Amino acid sequence: MPKNLLTLGAGIESIENYLILKKFDCNIIAVDKNPNAPGLKYADHFVKASIHNYSEILRNVKKIKTKIDGVLPFGDISYIATRLCKYFKINSIPLKSAKITSDKLLFKKELKNHFNIPFFKKIKNFSQLNHLVKSNKKKFIIKPVDNSGARGVILLNNKTNLRWAFNYCIKYSKKKHLIAEEYIEGPQLSTEGIVHNGKYVHLCSFDRNYEFIKKYRPFVIENGGSTPSKIGDKYNFEINKILSKVSKKLKLKNATLKGDLVINKNKIYLLEVATRLSGGWLSSITIPHSTGVNIVEYVINNSLGIETDKKKIFPKYKKNIVQRYLFPKEMRIKSIKFKNKSILQNKNIISFKIFKNKSKLNEKIDSHASRIGHVIVKSPNKKKGILLAKKIINNVKINYYSKKIKNKF
Ligand SMILES: Nc1ncnc2c1ncn2[C@@H]1O[C@H](COP(=O)(O)OP(=O)(O)OP(=O)(O)O)[C@@H](O)[C@H]1O
Ligand SMILES: [Mg+2]
Repeated sequence: MPKNLLTLGAGIESIENYLILKKFDCNIIAVDKNPNAPGLKYADHFVKASIHNYSEILRNVKKIKTKIDGVLPFGDISYIATRLCKYFKINSIPLKSAKITSDKLLFKKELKNHFNIPFFKKIKNFSQLNHLVKSNKKKFIIKPVDNSGARGVILLNNKTNLRWAFNYCIKYSKKKHLIAEEYIEGPQLSTEGIVHNGKYVHLCSFDRNYEFIKKYRPFVIENGGSTPSKIGDKYNFEINKILSKVSKKLKLKNATLKGDLVINKNKIYLLEVATRLSGGWLSSITIPHSTGVNIVEYVINNSLGIETDKKKIFPKYKKNIVQRYLFPKEMRIKSIKFKNKSILQNKNIISFKIFKNKSKLNEKIDSHASRIGHVIVKSPNKKKGILLAKKIINNVKINYYSKKIKNKF
């Protein structure tokens, strides 16, 4: 009898995952708060609930009176997914590991003695932030402890209105506290790997591109990136060592591990790790095309209790993949067209999407949720890949309503 798999999340970033999932013989019970979520067309049953609300998911799943055999999260919800696994008595990572990797402060407190972690402080109110910044020469970045996609993340400098920054950041924290961290200059990497029978297998170091950091300041916006990593490959041995050690500390057996690293003066700092699949199509498109490893399939196998053939988890090659995102101006969009449609036929384009939801006007460029499209290309070398990706992004013609949105900062 096919197994019943509870998938959490059916948004645009989950589509590729559902396409892989459809090859498996299982019943898909998809949870999303949006009945029109694009991934739902691949599901056998729909459960309406916010994927961030454990009780609501459980309450509404119980109503369908179906035995749940596996839980497959798509999104930053490792802790909720792990709690559901515990409830349904399904194998999972340790609950404590899911908890600390879902909270930027808990993670740092737990692991600060074992890794290079930037100086950090818990911030509960404005005066704590004010005191920290005024009594310290360090450059700080503040972030909500429990959010993702750079939501609420603010890079401070001596001109920042700290009260504004505090109020802005805390809005994005459910737990209502922040973390202030020393800002470490240097190249930033996103990493992702598989933990198989307790052994970490590194799949990808992705150079994060922050060329717009000045443009969108004080927000920290990544506009794409590329792999193989220019910098990461030099430090491959150390990166592997650090992430293996993290997976051991978190007692991961069969799981995936996503990391944010920054390198300064030959020292690798761990900004955070997550026990979930990465977003931004890194796990679903970039990694399989760059390495030949289908990391999403690995996660699906784990959630269905299927053993993965060991040969399938090691990188087979290192192909050049480049991604760039599209951002709008801070104006209301009237229409989105393409200057030259034939460019879109280029065989090196792996993925090109415009994901602007016209009904949801979000013209403030303050987090990764402000992105309105992306392109991922393959290329014989990084330089050519960047040129092609930029060409595709510049080929998008956005018309705006003439009135500029009032900038509130
Ligand atoms: N201490 C730091 N030093 C340097 N850069 C940092 C630091 N903390 C965060 N950043 C930068 O800000 C980005 C967003 O911060 P963080 O990863 O904590 O938030 P997030 O919501 O998880 O965002 P993302 O989805 O981009 O990872 C990081 O990816 C990194 O580029
Ligand atoms: Mg992060």
